[in-house]
Amino acid sequence: MNLTAQLDVKLGGGAMASPSNASRIQDLSISSLTKSYDGQAPVLRDISFEIHRGEAVALVGANGTGKSTLMRCCLRLIEPDAGGVKILGADITGLSRKALRDVRAQAGFIFQRHNLVPRFSALSNVVHGAQAWSRGPRTWHQALASKAVREEAMYCLDLVGLADFAKRRVDQLSGGQSQRVAIARALMQRPRIMLADEPVASLDPKAGEEVMELFVRLIKSQGLTLFYSSHHLEHAIGYSDRILGLRGGVVALDGESNSQNVNSLRGLYD
Ligand SMILES: Nc1ncnc2c1ncn2[C@@H]1O[C@H](COP(=O)(O)OP(=O)(O)OP(=O)(O)O)[C@@H](O)[C@H]1O
Ligand SMILES: [Mg+2]
Repeated sequence: MNLTAQLDVKLGGGAMASPSNASRIQDLSISSLTKSYDGQAPVLRDISFEIHRGEAVALVGANGTGKSTLMRCCLRLIEPDAGGVKILGADITGLSRKALRDVRAQAGFIFQRHNLVPRFSALSNVVHGAQAWSRGPRTWHQALASKAVREEAMYCLDLVGLADFAKRRVDQLSGGQSQRVAIARALMQRPRIMLADEPVASLDPKAGEEVMELFVRLIKSQGLTLFYSSHHLEHAIGYSDRILGLRGGVVALDGESNSQNVNSLRGLYD
């Protein structure tokens, strides 16, 4: 049984959105995107694709093919040289800083290194996620947060199975626990789309499997759109509806996950 099927069984079946029942609203649309660094040959050349609401799309490709560059270009954390990026209906290529911030606030982003504040508690780190929709000191620390924000942060920690660790400093958590806190913080943003760049790459195989499964289950149960990169080909196939493969700076593969297997994807790495 593949991972998607296993997850379906755990969820009681049918809880994973399939491409056929995914909405056709485009939550991410990339058109003719090109990016080079320091006048070198382009890393990304004329990249175009769409991701629809509720879809989970995996991005694969060898080291250095531009996966992180592409994911960051989706939120203009890196500026593309040319091309269009529309996210959640907004064309972000020409947006002001303020308007761009408002769009980014609706997108959760999980990095391989989770960027938590190490000396703060798990709960305070999750409270920081509220900065996506609320400004000011009351989102800086759990002790300053309103009761409603603290309760929502506790709820998010509970979702990732860490309610008992709320007061623990994150530099005293394991890698897998820290990555769960990062997921809770991203959920606290109340995002509409989630981008995750190798979200479990730093975890051991067992923790990686557990965290990936939890992450995708939470995303799917909230009907969020997901775009994630992974070098773990079973994760790429098992948790996505569709796979994009980068090779030589272009999209060399764009296909439904259930028609892919590990061997067919290996061709991207030759
Ligand atoms: N800030 C930068 N300045 C110059 N070159 C960069 C910069 N960031 C990335 N690159 C180069 O761009 C290319 C794509 O890098 P990127 O990190 O996007 O690849 P990746 O597919 O995410 O790789 P990995 O699988 O190792 O994470 C690489 O050749 C890298 O050296
Ligand atoms: Mg990368």
